[in-house]
Amino acid sequence: MSIAIAPLNDNFAGEVRGIDLCEPLSRSDIEAIEAGMDRYAVLIFHDQRLNDDQQVAFSRNFGEIELAIGGNVTKPEDRRLAVELADVSNLSETNNVLAPDDRRSLFNIGNQLWHSDSSYRVVPAKYSLLSARQIPKTGGNTEFADMRAAYDALDDETKAEIEDLICVHSLLYSRGILGFTDFTEEEQRAFTPVRQRLVRCHPVTGRKSLFLSSHAGTIEGWLMPEARSLLRDLTEHATQAAFLHVHQWEQYDFVMWDNRQTVHRVRRFRSTDEVRDMRRTTIQGDGPTVSGDAPP
Ligand code: OGA
Ligand code: MN
Repeated sequence: MSIAIAPLNDNFAGEVRGIDLCEPLSRSDIEAIEAGMDRYAVLIFHDQRLNDDQQVAFSRNFGEIELAIGGNVTKPEDRRLAVELADVSNLSETNNVLAPDDRRSLFNIGNQLWHSDSSYRVVPAKYSLLSARQIPKTGGNTEFADMRAAYDALDDETKAEIEDLICVHSLLYSRGILGFTDFTEEEQRAFTPVRQRLVRCHPVTGRKSLFLSSHAGTIEGWLMPEARSLLRDLTEHATQAAFLHVHQWEQYDFVMWDNRQTVHRVRRFRSTDEVRDMRRTTIQGDGPTVSGDAPP
């Protein structure tokens, strides 16, 4: 079996064949996947029946795992999965579908807004790796938007205006958009805003991209309504159909994306009567996007 990566129709995501992610990979397979990520930014693998340990082992080929702590409202004793995995399912610690008014359900609806994973952390995520263990019959597609193409398509005046802007990101902002505002004092402390550049440069390809996210709630030095209006305009521009890849899940699909070059969102599904068991590993980024901002 040898690895092959081919572009999908939309010329953005790539589809990977000829590899079993449950097995240890050769150096050349890992390099092929990394090169595929640099080029396509989203890679789709089918029929990958990994368990959690295999998912973590595969993910470690690409860097340090970002632990799923401090990015949600799930109490440590209510965790369903190990800390190396972000639980993006609609399930409780006893594997039952969460009630619609459960805080965890309401918080998870935030994933339906365009975002880049962990943009609310000083060191935002590099890759995310999402394994579909069980999927609903309808709904729950995941959509990706190419922030390189979106940046390239801006006019020169806008590019110049935004080049050095610094946005302020927090889970308080993204959840606030949906009217979820009843945070405990501890959560408010955990979700302290962080700074991120609005335009970033990919460390390997050098390509510029827009670093947008629903977590971005304002821009340093700007009045909030003006900042939000610009961020809304940019997000609307960047998520036009021309820049999208829509992934319709099959059970055991495995999708990797580069959060430095894309945003994504999950679409609505019947979350109170169907199981959607998705498990994500996340690879830490290389450092803060604002030079001098120290990781906590
Ligand atoms: C994520 C996320 C998308 C999905 O895992 O980062 O946003 O399809 N989830 O569940
Ligand atoms: Mn996400």
